[in-house]
This record gives sequence, C-alpha cells and structure tokens, in this order.
Amino acid sequence: MQQIPLVDVKAQWSPVRAELEARFADVLDGGQFVRGPHYYAFEQEAAAHLGVKGSIGVANGTDALVLVLDALEIGPGDEVVCPAFTFYATAESIARRGATPVFADVDPVTLNVDPEDVAAKITDRTRAIMPVHLFGRPAQMDALTALGPDVIEDAAQAFGAPGIARQGRISTFSFYPTKNLFALGDGGLVASSDEALLERVRMLSFHGSRDKVDFDFVGYNSRLDELQAAFLRVFLTKIDEWNEGRRVAAARYAELGLGDLVELPQDEPGHIYHLFVCRSPERDAIRKALLDAKIGTATYYVTPLHLQPSLRFLGYEPGSLPETERVAGENFSVPLWPGMPVEAQERVVDVVRSAVGVAANA
Ligand SMILES: Cc1ncc(COP(=O)(O)O)c(C=O)c1O
Repeated sequence: MQQIPLVDVKAQWSPVRAELEARFADVLDGGQFVRGPHYYAFEQEAAAHLGVKGSIGVANGTDALVLVLDALEIGPGDEVVCPAFTFYATAESIARRGATPVFADVDPVTLNVDPEDVAAKITDRTRAIMPVHLFGRPAQMDALTALGPDVIEDAAQAFGAPGIARQGRISTFSFYPTKNLFALGDGGLVASSDEALLERVRMLSFHGSRDKVDFDFVGYNSRLDELQAAFLRVFLTKIDEWNEGRRVAAARYAELGLGDLVELPQDEPGHIYHLFVCRSPERDAIRKALLDAKIGTATYYVTPLHLQPSLRFLGYEPGSLPETERVAGENFSVPLWPGMPVEAQERVVDVVRSAVGVAANA
C-alpha cells in the first residue's frame, strides 16, 4: 500500500531544483550571508506581490508577531483580542510581550475569529485585534477593521490569498517549510504600508539600531537569512500557481463526494487551502482508518489556547469558548498539495467512506 503524505513539499520544490541550486551557488560565491542582495530584493518583491509599500524579512513567523507588538509598544497592561483556535504562537507573542491575550470564539462556519465576539471582548485596555487567516481562509477583515483598534493580521497560513495584508495596519507571515509560501528552513515576514512602523520593525530586528553604532531601542536579532531569501525569491514566482493548485485539489474533494461523508471547509473565492480541514463527530474513527491506510492526517489545536497550561493564569475555564472547543474535538485534515494526483484523492475519499460506513453500523 503506497503512502500518501499529508503534504508533499518535495513535489513543489523538485521542478525548480536547478534554480535553487543556482541560487545556492550565487549566495555562496557572493559571500554575504546576512542582509545581502537577495534579502532586500525579496522584501521588495514580496511587498509588491502583497500590494503593500514594504516588508521586512525576519527569522520566523513568531518573531514577526513579537516584533510587530513591540513596534506598536504593546506590553504590560495592554490587551490584544485574538482567537484561541490557532497555533500557539499567536497568543504566545502577546504573552511574551507581557500583554494579555483576550480570546474571542470562532465562527463555526469559517473557523475564523467571530467579529461579533471580538466586539464583545473589546475594553478600554484593548490595543489591537489579531485575527488569523486560518488554514488559508481570509478572516472577516471588513467587520474587524470597523471595530476601531489596530488590526494585526497573523497571515502565517495565507501568503497570496487575495486582499491579505492590505486591510490591517500590519501583517505577519511564516515561511515554515509546510506553509503555502515556504523556505527550506525557518523564515518570516512583516508587511505593511505604514512605513514608519516598518522602519521601527526593521530597527528592532537589528538590535534596535539603524547603523550598529547607536542602539535606540532594546531589540532583537531576527533576520531572514540571505540563503532563505534567495530560495524564497524562486518560490515567490510559483506561489500563485501553487495556490490555484490547492484550490483545484480542494474542489476535487467536493466533486468526489467527500462532502457527503464529512463537513468540508466552506469554500469562498479567497480561500487558498493551506490545509484541508474537515469536521466530523466520527473524527477519531476516520483518522484511525486513514492512518491504517498509510494516509497522512492531523488534528489542529485539540487543546485550544485558552486551555493551555502556560496560559492558565488567564483564568479561562472549559466551556468558556463553546464553538472553539467543539471544533477542537471534531476537526481533522486530509492530504492536500498543489498538483496532488487524482488517484490519491480518490483513495482518501474511499477510505473515509468505509470508515464512516463502519462507524454508522457500529
Ligand atoms: C497562525 C500561525 N501563527 C504563527 C505561526 C508561527 O510561525 P513560525 O513557526 O514561523 O514561528 C504559525 C506557524 O507556525 C502559525 O500557523
């Protein structure tokens, strides 16, 4: 039985292997491994792709969030409203700054943070709202930006989704190797059209300095490596094709009838399917069947952030975010990558069909 991985990153980089090797040689010969020409060129090309005035390459997506919060001078005594159904780094960055993450529930249809609940969680200490474009689906930015506080878009999972990074004050990305736009290692980006704020992020990422002579802020050392920037410039030329490939594979799951068996992620034109995350009360049986058939699957945020041990001091109890907790108990992903073969998708659907059948007869 052939294995079907959850994501096949090699299928994405293999066609551009020769270009990557040429970039490696270029960086090696150039001898400038930090803050070299590819780093600055990638920042410009990424900003142009996103449709914002500028971007700053940083070491990873978590640092990108911390740097942004620091640049906005968000710290002790401040609150930032964010979802609890997201990767830990979203709230970790807020707590790392000594500010308070305030969790809003998710919309059960989009799985993104519910703007009505965000509105209900805003207080006079709220300094920002941090939505996540979860699994590649844009959050409801019109409703969120209308609420007033600065919106920091955690766009780690959504590079290239239409409109991303243009409505919030500033946005952050991760280039972790399974992301839609990925590096061959860690990497991250901060993007914005607020050039003064970006300049502050740039300085903070260089120890709070412009020139390594005067150090104006206590900062960080967090930069995108030259080599990763060189690779990312190649991948950036592929991202639109890859995102379209993800949409094609997602539509095919629907055509193959997966939606008759489990609840599919609801489609919308801007969804770029970083992951294909379904819901079912039979989640555990389906996952077991997939794993037995050597098919990759995962669950997400099974312990949502408001119930994480490290954030217990915030005082949330089980039941405080009902939709978040429900989706945490029901979600699972099936394999998806750009160009995923039809036969592999057919096999996934067949396995889910028999698992659901078995569960119904049990
Ligand atoms: C929503 C979200 N925010 C932040 C991060 C952090 O990014 P990184 O792993 O590059 O630090 C990730 C991914 O890992 C993520 O999925």
